[in-house]
Amino acid sequence: MSVPEEVAVADLVIRRLLEDDAPALQAAVLESLEHLRPWMPWVAFEPLSIDERRELLARWGREWQEGTQYGFGVFLGEQLAGVFGLHRRIGPGGLELGYWIHRRHTGRGYATQAAAALTSVAFGLPDTTHVEIHHDKANLASGRIPEKLGFRLVREESDGIEAPGETGVSCIWRVERDAWRPDAEARTLTPR
Ligand SMILES: CC(C)(COP(=O)(O)OP(=O)(O)OC[C@H]1O[C@@H](n2cnc3c(N)ncnc32)[C@H](O)[C@@H]1OP(=O)(O)O)[C@@H](O)C(=O)NCCC(=O)NCCS
Repeated sequence: MSVPEEVAVADLVIRRLLEDDAPALQAAVLESLEHLRPWMPWVAFEPLSIDERRELLARWGREWQEGTQYGFGVFLGEQLAGVFGLHRRIGPGGLELGYWIHRRHTGRGYATQAAAALTSVAFGLPDTTHVEIHHDKANLASGRIPEKLGFRLVREESDGIEAPGETGVSCIWRVERDAWRPDAEARTLTPR
């Protein structure tokens, strides 16, 4: 069983990012820098050149092949509205979901819809026992997403300040395979 390269949810197409997406990713990141800066540590290294962006996508491609990280773009038609990643960095059986949405496309439920779809993708892999979302305690918008999807807050831990908006306390939300309800996904598809 492998990770699907494309999933459609409501208005969104969620698909594997490829090197040819470098211009779209470059534009989306540069247009969203100040929106992302408080929470995303990698913004400190921006702006990347287009060649560096292409190299980054090439690395994500290798990681996809190795099964260590799956990087997806969330597309609204031709527009790249956000980037999501499923990361194998929380121990055996676990996948951590990370995300950001382009500043122009926030507040429409897209992060919640895509997070639901990718949680289902994660559980499509037979060895996945749990999916987690980690966010800084001050990042209330990010915290709403696992909460709305029925993840459980399992702990808070001090992990240091990595981006300027952070308190240094991380909230760890988890859903186990048995607790992942298809209706959690369906709920997010209800027109808002
Ligand atoms: C966090 C982020 C992905 C949310 O994307 P989005 O598409 O706007 O999310 P949704 O519309 O699905 O849901 C956001 C929820 O947060 C709520 N919210 C937004 N801003 C908020 C704030 N300042 N305080 C509290 N809640 C807030 C929204 O009301 C919504 O909840 P609701 O449905 O109960 O009303 C987006 O804001 C983002 O990219 N932020 C910068 C990067 C980032 O923080 N990534 C996550 C790192 S852990």
